[in-house]
Amino acid sequence: MDIINFVFLNLMIIPHYVKGVCDWPTEFQNTTWKDSSKGDIEFTTNTLTGWSITISAVLPHQHFDTWFCHSTDLYTEQNILVLITQSTFQPYGNTVYGYICVELLEITQSSYRYYLRNPISAGVNYERIQMSTSNTENNWDTLCLFDESYASFRPETSEYRVLIDKNQVSNAKIDCPYVFLGTYRYNHSASNGIDSCDISTSTFTMCNDVTDITFDYNVCPTQVAYSKSDTVWCVDTVMNNGNNYVTLYNGNDEETDIDDSSIYRFSCISVSSDLTVSSVSPGSCKNGQTPDKYSNNGTSDIGAILSLVQTVTCPHVDVPNGGTVTYSTNGAVTIVTYSCNEDYSLAGPEVRTCRSNNTWTDEDPTCSMILL
Ligand SMILES: *[C@@H]1O[C@H](CO)[C@@H](O)[C@H](O)[C@H]1NC(C)=O
Ligand SMILES: *[C@@H]1O[C@H](CO)[C@@H](O)[C@H](O)[C@H]1NC(C)=O
Ligand SMILES: *[C@@H]1O[C@H](CO)[C@@H](O)[C@H](O)[C@H]1NC(C)=O
Ligand SMILES: *[C@@H]1O[C@H](CO)[C@@H](O)[C@H](O)[C@H]1NC(C)=O
Repeated sequence: MDIINFVFLNLMIIPHYVKGVCDWPTEFQNTTWKDSSKGDIEFTTNTLTGWSITISAVLPHQHFDTWFCHSTDLYTEQNILVLITQSTFQPYGNTVYGYICVELLEITQSSYRYYLRNPISAGVNYERIQMSTSNTENNWDTLCLFDESYASFRPETSEYRVLIDKNQVSNAKIDCPYVFLGTYRYNHSASNGIDSCDISTSTFTMCNDVTDITFDYNVCPTQVAYSKSDTVWCVDTVMNNGNNYVTLYNGNDEETDIDDSSIYRFSCISVSSDLTVSSVSPGSCKNGQTPDKYSNNGTSDIGAILSLVQTVTCPHVDVPNGGTVTYSTNGAVTIVTYSCNEDYSLAGPEVRTCRSNNTWTDEDPTCSMILL
């Protein structure tokens, strides 16, 4: 189905330049960010620049990189900002404005996760964008896909993007997901057909520092996470269908090294729940990305697949006799929850939180048999 026909209200609109009708929430005004798909982006009081789109439906392709604040009506309750393109464009002959509904979630004091609540548009390079001939759209049910009949057009849980405050990138580090922490052997199959790295000798580890993944590039020099540096940081993670999707940040390479073809600031690794296979893609986690197949950018397979063998698990808590533990993370905070088997009772904390220095709050609890 052609998404372009989604919203057409006013067919006789005369193209003109609109001015932003709202100001950004103050926390975004006059700030610059690293975006996991778009590079550096900058907010003024009511504009956003750097968040570029390409209108691939027209030849020659048109490019836009400036957006206005269209509405903050949904921000207080739902953390959604509605943006409109600075000017019109003409995919398939119609003159339209582009809209995006950006749903934000704070991860750390210097980072956000966001989703684009708009359908994928093949005519805009498979970007999630809504189009309308009107520049005064306010039907959020349609524009931001709240209406249940548009549910299948919404982004997947794993299709998230990340913003990091450019002035404090290192504060965006989080602990890599606990289930994934360990040392691994791996091999690497790139989507261009090139296989490299021997699974019996190539390794990466997260045990030196639980916020980092460090590759042994002496053994296999293939740049796995699109970085020249052997170390990348975990900056966000979500779970979808039992698989972990981890956004990695290449914080060690110089700005001049980032060419967005072999070296990127961000990459996404999707790891299977049994920790045996993962896919890596440049930039943000992709629509349809799963651990066991190549990601696709709309037109081609991209990225690589790594087969994994976990050889070491790193700092987990002791499992109490007669009990079990469950790890969970919302990205910024990892907790462990204890429970005791039937006929055992828990003495000590039920929940412990991982601190930034990689130690757990409180002491180990115990499970003791209930004597009747
Ligand atoms: C952002 O900059 C503009 C222009 O200098 C200024 O009017 C506005 O108050 C600033 N916003 C914040 C939150 O500092
Ligand atoms: C997808 O990736 C291929 C190969 O890197 C590239 O040529 C193409 O322009 C990309 N397509 C989109 C929609 O980004
Ligand atoms: C990678 O390792 C897996 C598991 O041992 C193996 O099945 C696969 O063939 C290997 N791939 C390459 C490209 O060597
Ligand atoms: C970790 O941080 C906590 C709280 O700040 C502190 O009490 C504890 O001693 C620290 N542990 C280590 C090993 O640094």
